[in-house]
Amino acid sequence: MSTFNLIIQTLHNIGRWGVVILAVIAIIRAFSGWFGKKTFTAADNKVGFLYTMALDIQVLLGLILYFSKGWFGVLTTDFGAAMSSSGTRFFAIEHLLVMIAAVAIAHIGRSQSRKAESDVKKHSRAALWYLISFIVLLASIPWPFMANARPWLRLFGISF
Ligand code: HEM
Repeated sequence: MSTFNLIIQTLHNIGRWGVVILAVIAIIRAFSGWFGKKTFTAADNKVGFLYTMALDIQVLLGLILYFSKGWFGVLTTDFGAAMSSSGTRFFAIEHLLVMIAAVAIAHIGRSQSRKAESDVKKHSRAALWYLISFIVLLASIPWPFMANARPWLRLFGISF
């Protein structure tokens, strides 16, 4: 693999953990704010911002990988062949579309939460939308136990 791809893939792999950690923090804060009827603070807003920002960075890194590792070529060279194998279908189309959907859901949640009139509603909207986006993205991460397995952690040439 080229050094460039190795660097982007490493960043995309580590970025996944950033997303997962921020999602857990944002969801726990939102549910506890909702059920505990807490004030929606600047820190709650910041966590939502960081979660959606981390997702946007992942999309950017993912798109770079998508073109530089040739997945777009796989799709356009022979669409039928790419679709007929689950190995190529996952990265050529499924991971891309499902992740874009997950990121869109998170952004809708943040905007709905910001627009809400009461603090409890800000928390409840963030809680539900962020939870849905997190479930969708967890299902599309190529975990090591899945068919299209990728490592838990990649540090350039080393992977775990
Ligand atoms: C539009 C959005 C995205 C695109 C286009 C995209 C694209 C890709 C591509 C092309 C690969 C490399 C497959 C390979 O050849 O080995 C990949 C791997 C991966 N993606 Fe994404 N991705 C996106 C979003 C995300 C998001 C939001 C996450 C997690 C939060 C994520 C997590 C991963 C992980 C963990 C890998 C394995 C990295 C590795 O091999 O070390 N992706 N993605």
